Amino acid sequence: MIMLTRFSKAFLFTVFALFLLGSLALLHPPSRTYVDTWTGDFLGEGGMMPILSPAQGAKGEVIMPKLGNATAKAELGRATWKLLHTMTLRFPDEPRQDERDALNNYFHLMSRLYPCGECAAEFQKLLKKYPPQASRNRPT
Ligand SMILES: *[C@@H]1O[C@H](CO)[C@@H](O)[C@H](O)[C@H]1NC(C)=O
Repeated sequence: MIMLTRFSKAFLFTVFALFLLGSLALLHPPSRTYVDTWTGDFLGEGGMMPILSPAQGAKGEVIMPKLGNATAKAELGRATWKLLHTMTLRFPDEPRQDERDALNNYFHLMSRLYPCGECAAEFQKLLKKYPPQASRNRPT
């Protein structure tokens, strides 16, 4: 079991929270559905929901080794939190499909490339446990 500093736990929680919010709000839109104008029902095209597939290289093992230095880890966490917070704040309310894909890929890539290897591994577990496909089920 990896010991995480209080801050990296907070960071992972934040990432996870942002990720979940992102999943709920953005990552699984009913993009292939339309409203039947006669009945008002939501219909899917052939019952197929789009599966978000991460871009090439976005899936795979964590790349960086363990970052033992707690000070460096905390600094990295703060900076990343700032980045993600600002990014999600400024992300469009009604993103296009390619913008949703970009965010999805970003999260997957970050879970590989985050420079604190042990943090990245935790993040990958979260992504596996809560894949972006299994999120949204309310209509807009
Ligand atoms: C740990 O990281 C901090 C901040 O990056 C750095 O100033 C310090 O020298 C590092 N300590 C060691 C032992 O590498």
